Amino acid sequence: MVYDFDTIVPRWQTNSYKWDSAADERVLPMWVADMDFRTAPEIVEALQRRVAHGIFGYTHVPDAYYEAVQDWFGRRHGWQIARESILYTTGVVPALSALIKALTMPGERVLVQTPVYNCFFSSIRNNGCEVATSPLKRVGDTYEMNFEDLEKKAADERTRVMLLCNPHNPVGRAWREEELRRLGEICLRHHVFVISDEIHGELVLPGYHYTPFASLGEAFARHSATCVSPSKAFNLAGLQIANIIVEDEVVRYRTDRAINIHETCDVNPFGVEALIAAYRYGAPWLEALNAYLAENYQFMKAYVEEKLPLFPLARLEATYLVWMDCHVCGLSSDELETRLLQQEKLWLNAGSMYGEVDGCFLRWNIACPRQVLREGLERFVRFVRS
Ligand SMILES: Cc1ncc(COP(=O)(O)O)c(C=O)c1O
Repeated sequence: MVYDFDTIVPRWQTNSYKWDSAADERVLPMWVADMDFRTAPEIVEALQRRVAHGIFGYTHVPDAYYEAVQDWFGRRHGWQIARESILYTTGVVPALSALIKALTMPGERVLVQTPVYNCFFSSIRNNGCEVATSPLKRVGDTYEMNFEDLEKKAADERTRVMLLCNPHNPVGRAWREEELRRLGEICLRHHVFVISDEIHGELVLPGYHYTPFASLGEAFARHSATCVSPSKAFNLAGLQIANIIVEDEVVRYRTDRAINIHETCDVNPFGVEALIAAYRYGAPWLEALNAYLAENYQFMKAYVEEKLPLFPLARLEATYLVWMDCHVCGLSSDELETRLLQQEKLWLNAGSMYGEVDGCFLRWNIACPRQVLREGLERFVRFVRS
C-alpha cells in the first residue's frame, strides 16, 4: 500500500496544542513533538468502529491489549516481555513520575544526560528530588555519553535513579548496544536503578537500530523499568496511553501503587483500541513513515549545507527532532526563539529547555509534509539574512 505523507492536513483550530497555542494563523509551528500526518488507516478504522458503538464508559483493558504489546516487542525488537510485567497508564510522563515516586525519597538525586527532554526535569522536581546532570559530549556531528562523568555521578550515594532517554531527544542518538551495556554496568555497580524512556524507539532511520535497554540481559532487565508507547510513532499522543515494563516484582508493586496514588491508572477506550491496532497492523505504515522522515532529514541536511552552512545539524539517527547549532547568531536560544517567532512566524524550541548547554541550539520537529519543512527552512534563511 502507498501511504500519503505529502498532503497538508490543516490542523489550525482543531484544538491542537502545537497549532492552536499560537494566536496567529500565520505561525508555522515546528516545536511540540507530534506529527502533522494522519495516523495509519487501520488505527483510524479501529477508532471509527469504537466511536460507532456510542457508549464510552470506564475501560476494561483486555487480553488482546497485553498480547499486542508482547507480540510487537517480541517480534520486532527481540524483547520477550512477561504479561505480568506490563503496567498501563495515561502517558510516558505520568509513567516517569510514578516510577520516580516509587523508587526515591524526597531529596534524593535522579541522574539525566543533558541536553534532554524537558519533562524529565519537572518530573524529578515534582517528586521532591534533585536533578543530577551528566552532560553528553559533543563529538564531530554527534553526541556521546561521558562514561567517566557518569561513573562519578552514579557513585554519589544520593543518586538513586537514572533517567535514560533511549533513543535520545533532542540529540537524535539511537544508542548502540555497547553504549547501553556500559551505562548499565555503571548503574549496576553503584545500585542506581535505570528508568528507560523508550517512547522514540520506533522512530529510527535506516542504518541505525533501537535496542531496548532491558533486552540486554537479565541483570539489566531486573534493574530497570522501561516506558513505551505507540503514541510518538503513530501520532496518538492525545489518546494518552503508555506502558511501563517492570520485571522486578517489588518495584512493580511500588510502581503500581504510585500510579494509583497519582490517579493515572484509568485509561480511555480510544487509547486501548488505537494501541491494539497500531501494534497488530501498523508495521507497514510505520516503515513508510520512517522512510519519509529519513528523506525529510536528508532534504533538510542538504538545504542547510547549501544555504546555512554555519548552522550545523547533529546527525539524526532516531526521532524526528533535529538539533541545530546556532551559536553563530550571537543570541541566546531564548532570544532566537522569540525573534524567529516575531519576525518570521516560525516556532521552534529553544535549546535552553533541555537543560544547561553551552552555546545556542534550536530543536526542529521535521515530522511534516516536505513542502511545510521547506517553508520552515525558507523562513529561517530569511531571518538569518535579515
Ligand atoms: C522522551 C519523551 N518522553 C515522553 C514524552 C511524552 O510522553 P507522553 O505524551 O506519553 O506523556 C515525549 C514527548 O515528546 C518525549 O520526547
